[in-house]
Amino acid sequence: MIKNSLILLVALFFACQANAQEVLPLIPKPLKAAKQTGSFTLSQQTQIVANSEVKQLAQYLQAELLRYQGLSIRTADKAAENYISLTLVNNRGKKNAAWYQLAISPNKIEIKATQPEGLFAGISSLLQLVRQQSVNKKVVELASWEIEDEPIYAWRGLMLDESRHFFGKEKVKQLLDWMAFYKLNKFHWHLTDQPGWRIEIKAFPKLTLVGGIGSHSDSLAKAQYYTQEDIKEIVAYAAQRYIDVIPEIDMPGHATAANKAYPEFSGGGSPKYPEFTFNPGKESTYQYLTQILREVDVLFPSQMIHIGADEVHFGNQHWNKDEAVQSLMKSKNLKDLPAVEAYFVKRMADSIKDLNNEVLAWDEIVSGTLSTEKTTVFWWRHDKPEILKDALQKGYQVVLCPRLPLYFDFVQEDSHVVGRKWAGNFVHWQSVYQFPTKEITALPNANTLIRGIQANVWTEVIVDAQQLDYKIFPRIAALAEAAWTPSQLKDQTAFESRLKSHFKLFTAEGLYFFNPFNQKASPELLTPAQRKGLLPDNEAQTAAEKGTIK
Ligand code: ACM
Repeated sequence: MIKNSLILLVALFFACQANAQEVLPLIPKPLKAAKQTGSFTLSQQTQIVANSEVKQLAQYLQAELLRYQGLSIRTADKAAENYISLTLVNNRGKKNAAWYQLAISPNKIEIKATQPEGLFAGISSLLQLVRQQSVNKKVVELASWEIEDEPIYAWRGLMLDESRHFFGKEKVKQLLDWMAFYKLNKFHWHLTDQPGWRIEIKAFPKLTLVGGIGSHSDSLAKAQYYTQEDIKEIVAYAAQRYIDVIPEIDMPGHATAANKAYPEFSGGGSPKYPEFTFNPGKESTYQYLTQILREVDVLFPSQMIHIGADEVHFGNQHWNKDEAVQSLMKSKNLKDLPAVEAYFVKRMADSIKDLNNEVLAWDEIVSGTLSTEKTTVFWWRHDKPEILKDALQKGYQVVLCPRLPLYFDFVQEDSHVVGRKWAGNFVHWQSVYQFPTKEITALPNANTLIRGIQANVWTEVIVDAQQLDYKIFPRIAALAEAAWTPSQLKDQTAFESRLKSHFKLFTAEGLYFFNPFNQKASPELLTPAQRKGLLPDNEAQTAAEKGTIK
């Protein structure tokens, strides 16, 4: 009896081993992956072979292997065996810039791509596999696989709001590391809003010295912002990881912090949102903002500027009595405030195009007068699908980032209290994983005009780095697979087991992540104010709680 049980146990053990071997622990799941026999021994004897064209990628791989696994691997011009090669190939059939092949065999690891971006994606896959193996006497065994891969979406984004709360350079770099780990490639940086202006502008130093004071939870917090040197450092760090950084300078609304610094350009506000807008009636406002954008353009080589343009109606009541706005309305024959808003947005979009940048904005612009050329709409109002339809029908490119399920300031679980929960709706990783729905991808023009998807992390209620981790992890992994893997290859159950295997990497990096499978492992951490129930409110949240937004 004991003998039989033992045999059964041993058989079960080997069956599990075999099964584990067949599962490639990569997120996002690649397009094609075939298990091969044998394994590659990665050690300090291994060499990286890469020509001068891709030397920087070889250096990145070296640096990451040392950083995470303590392995210092040499480069070489050529090697006979036990090497990793990085090669750009001419494969005209493969148009996707992120396409790559990764072949791990007992003798060598070969990464091939048509573009450096593809080599980077291949390196990310390799690093993900290496980091999940233990190092034993400076040796890592890697199972043999043949992988061919490319993403469905070119835009795989994450937005961070640092106006409401400021997290700083080191936290941003850590986020960029995780974005690279999960092959996310667009970092949308919300740098200006009501509580604080966070980007140094040399021509207008008070924007940060005065406008940088305060946060959503503390109006007297000392000025916090990124200097232009900081910005260059972050942009270079991102570029090394093939991530574009897209700055958002929100206008004409959400301008309160800027107006604190330079009230002469304020268009006033409303009782609930004082000094909320820039003044669209003054010529000097356009010169001021264009000068700001000129510096922004120099700092961000992505050649994309996001001008917000959201929620202007929250605080533009003063325009009704502002002399400059009234005289603009007469001279340009603008019949109402939305027409003034559209006029302003068009002028600033022209400035951005004149700087050879693409214009990015929230979905309010769909009802305006912008041409579709070099213009991308960020669809965020999940309760207004007709706006998405309209944007696609008019011919705008679109990034999908609807509040439900892609605003990561929504709580992850019903029992959580820090974050949005609207009419009982919260954002479980599963709903992120299942995005986008067929209703969206089947819309006319969706195939050609949807650039991709993005999660947005608004930070009214996220006050520190641990709360930030708690909102982003592990949903970022679900976002990555939703943005990369074709829907017919997605499998939520299989994803779940790969996801669990990533948790030890989160722990190793000191992240305070939410564990949906063991909720006691990481309870929600509240500040003393949050414990007393003093959660910051916002207008939309209040509306949602009243049930007007589902
Ligand atoms: C937004 O959430 N106001 C874009």
